[in-house]
Formats: sequence, structure tokens, C-alpha cells
Amino acid sequence: MKKINNNSLKIISKIPFRQYSGEYRIFHFTGFGNTPKNDRCGEIRKLLIPKTLGEASKIRDTLTSKDNVPKNAIKSATSLKNLTNTALLKSSSITTITSKTPNECAEKKLEKKSDKLKCLRPVSRIKLVDEPPDDCNVRKAEMPTVKLRDGYVMPMFGLGTWGAPIIKAEKAVKHALKVGYRMIDCAHVYENEEAVGKAINKSIEKCIVKREELFIISKLWNTFHEPHLVLSGCQQSLCDLKLSYLNLYIIHWPMGYRAGDDLIPYDACGRVIGSRVDYTETWKAMEELVERRLTRSIGLSNFNKNQIERIWKIAKIKPVVNQVECHPYLNQKRLKAYLKKKGIVLVAYSPLGAPARPWVRKDEPKVLDDNLIKTIAFNTGRTPAQVCIRYQIQRGNPVIPKSVTPSRIESNFDVASFELSDQEMKILDKLDRKLRFVPLSQLSNHPHYPFHDAF
Ligand SMILES: NC(=O)c1ccc[n+]([C@@H]2O[C@H](COP(=O)([O-])OP(=O)(O)OC[C@H]3O[C@@H](n4cnc5c(N)ncnc54)[C@H](OP(=O)(O)O)[C@@H]3O)[C@@H](O)[C@H]2O)c1
Repeated sequence: MKKINNNSLKIISKIPFRQYSGEYRIFHFTGFGNTPKNDRCGEIRKLLIPKTLGEASKIRDTLTSKDNVPKNAIKSATSLKNLTNTALLKSSSITTITSKTPNECAEKKLEKKSDKLKCLRPVSRIKLVDEPPDDCNVRKAEMPTVKLRDGYVMPMFGLGTWGAPIIKAEKAVKHALKVGYRMIDCAHVYENEEAVGKAINKSIEKCIVKREELFIISKLWNTFHEPHLVLSGCQQSLCDLKLSYLNLYIIHWPMGYRAGDDLIPYDACGRVIGSRVDYTETWKAMEELVERRLTRSIGLSNFNKNQIERIWKIAKIKPVVNQVECHPYLNQKRLKAYLKKKGIVLVAYSPLGAPARPWVRKDEPKVLDDNLIKTIAFNTGRTPAQVCIRYQIQRGNPVIPKSVTPSRIESNFDVASFELSDQEMKILDKLDRKLRFVPLSQLSNHPHYPFHDAF
């Protein structure tokens, strides 16, 4: 048990909140004292700090009823006794504590606060990794591609990185680049862009890949929607990824949150504090990023038809993609048809049904366990995951399955050498049940919540 002092508490309270925590802990601080050893170096989780026990039970109720957090993911404690840090006590706060394994703990200690701040420097002062050494002979990877409306070419297949812990993310991206992946889907809110950047950096240095072969996507997080913050949001990602330009930068969600250090700002009742910034204003600032050559293309994510229409009307530069949840249980047929007419590419996220999403419930159907998908997998001698990935590719949707497991990274990539028959595609089409695994329903009151409309 380690004695905790005011300084370390302040550090805890400043660690940015991470949206996709694995575990939820509610601490009711009753005073000054000790904290369990692991607390500043535990698995990613939310730490909720209510002022009273009554508030603690309210938070728990909100988590279980509104946010669908399984009860067994919530742990309570009153372990900090005699706490006198009144500043902390005054605000009910939600924060994140990272890394559980000894290795991850060690890395966390090495990661000084100042390292994080370095990334706020202008990009031009950072060592960028756009070019490999002169004597580099990079093996070219063959990959089906799609031409975007602005003329750039996007691979049909890439690696997702949401929820990849820092150490695993670096290894996974390195492995993926070795295997032949050329597109990596990143986001500031995934809090692992530095690790992804390291992997890209090292792979370029080792001549595994050239920057010009890569297609790197990042996303403007919701707290950066105010037009004057868009540039810094993009620069932060460039800095973390150690790149001088992105291939594609997209608005992560149409919903803005209150700007500030918290990636998800909460009010005293545990509700997300939204902002009223109109995404059309955000879009105009996104266009400036293209003019500044910080990104080649710009696009959207989680936008519905009407929201895209509003962007379309004011855009000097039209969005090239809309990245949305898409798998056999939510095939996005109508949105896809609309996007096709506009010349916007639908990029399929959670193509395997996001089986490890933190809010998963045992009773929810699992795409990878679907009997028909399993049968098609059996008949084609493939895995259910390969069937789901191939399904998107044959529909013309670039697809970004996530894995940090080397064998899965390899098998997910091996989807070019088989084809699903028309009949198999039809069977998969019929599995649609409009089931959204990433509904962000706690934001359903936000004025720009995208999922009230049919598509
Ligand atoms: N724009 C947005 O709002 C948004 C939202 C969600 C996701 N995304 C992007 O889309 C990416 C993919 O979506 P996702 O991460 O939600 O879910 P997903 O790709 O559908 O599923 C990923 C999960 O499936 C597991 N998995 C991977 N390959 C597998 C295989 N062959 N067999 C069995 N399990 C396998 C992974 O485990 P291991 O890692 O342990 O192998 C991981 O837990 C994200 O990582 C992110 O980049 C974007």
C-alpha cells in the first residue's frame, strides 16, 4: 500500500479520460490515506469520484441503466481514507488510470508528463519520418484500392487501432506493416497514436515500408470541434504519429463536446457535456487543413444523410468518405446507396461486430458466432472473420478490422485469394437486423446525435 499525497492525486485527476475503458471503479473518498497499490498503474478504467455515498450509488445506477455497463464491470471502494484534497473532492470527476502489466507499468513511469507536452510543439520542429533511408529497397505490397473523389487512392483494407493498449499497438502495427497492411486507422481519442507513430517510424527506418505507400487516417475528436481548435487537433495527431501529413483526416462524430483537457467532459450528474458547435463550421476549418497540406483528404465519420447534406451544401472541398459501423448485422444498405450517389466512399468500421467493446452484454448476438456466417466460413475453408472482411470488400467498402494478435493480423489480411459467391453475398445481406454495437446512446440528447434518423 502506497501513501498517496496531494501531488499524486492531482496527477491522477489530470490523466485524460478515456472513452473506452475496460473497468469502472467508483471511489468514495472519505478522507486522507492510502490507495491500493495498482491504482495508478492499473488496467484502463474509469475512476469515478463522487462526493457522497448517495452520489456514488447514483453514478452506479446511471452506468448500469443508461450506459449499459454490466454490473460486474463496476467495482466500488472507499479505500482512500481521510482525504483532504478538497479541490478534488469538490468536483465529482471521472478519470482514467492506465496499464496493468508490469511492462506497461514500467513504460507508463518512463512516459513523463513533459513527453506528452512535446506534442504541442509545431509539427515542423519534430523529427518526421516521411522518408526511408536512401539505400532502402522496400517490397511493394499488392492491395486492392479505391479511387477517392479527390483523386487519391485508398487501400480497401487496413488495420483498426481502437482499444489497442500502447505496448500492443506498437507491436501490432509493426507486424501489420510487415505482413503487408498499408492503411492504419487511428484517432486521437484512442490514446495510442504515439505508439502507432513509433511503429510507423521504425518500419520506415527498417525499409519495411515507404511513407508514400502508406495511407494513414486520423480523426478530429469531439472536444476540438470549435473551428479555432481544429488545426491543433490535427497537429496533435501529426505530432504523435510523427508525420508531416495525413492521408485522410475525418470528423470523428458530428457531436461536439465542451473543449478542454478531458476527452469526455462530464457534469456533476455524470452526463457528457456537449457543445453546440455546428459541424458545418468545423468542416470549414477542416478544409483549411487541406490548404495547409496537413492532410490530403478530409472526410466524415458517423454522419447521417441529412448531416452530410448540410456539409455538402457549404463545402468547398467535399468529404471523400463517411466511416461508419458496418457488418452483416448492420449492412448500411440505404446509407451506402446514398453515399454512392454522392461519390462518397463508405468505410466499414467494427466489421467483426466489435466483439470486445467495453459495454458488450452477454445476451447480445455475436456476428462471429452467427451460424450462417460460420457455415459460409466452413464451406469456403475460411474463418468467420475473413468472411465478414471479404463481405465488405466485395461490396466496395474499404474495411478496417482491429487486432493486436499476430495470427489474426495475418489471417484477417489473407482475404484477397478467395471470393464469396453471389448466393453467399445474398445470404449475408439478409442477416441485416439494424443492430448497432456502437450507438453512443448516452449522447442521444445531443442536438447532433446521428442515429435518430433511419440512415
Ligand atoms: N469512426 C468511429 O467512430 C469508429 C468506431 C469504432 C471503430 N472504429 C475503427 O474501426 C476499427 C475496427 O472496429 P472495432 O475495433 O470496433 O471492432 P472489430 O474490428 O469489429 O473487432 C475487433 C475485435 O475483434 C477481435 N478480432 C480481430 N480479428 C479476429 C479474428 N480473426 N477472430 C476473432 N476475433 C478477432 C479483436 O481482438 P484482438 O485485438 O484481441 O485480436 C478485437 O477485439 C477500430 O479499431 C477503429 O480503428 C472507428
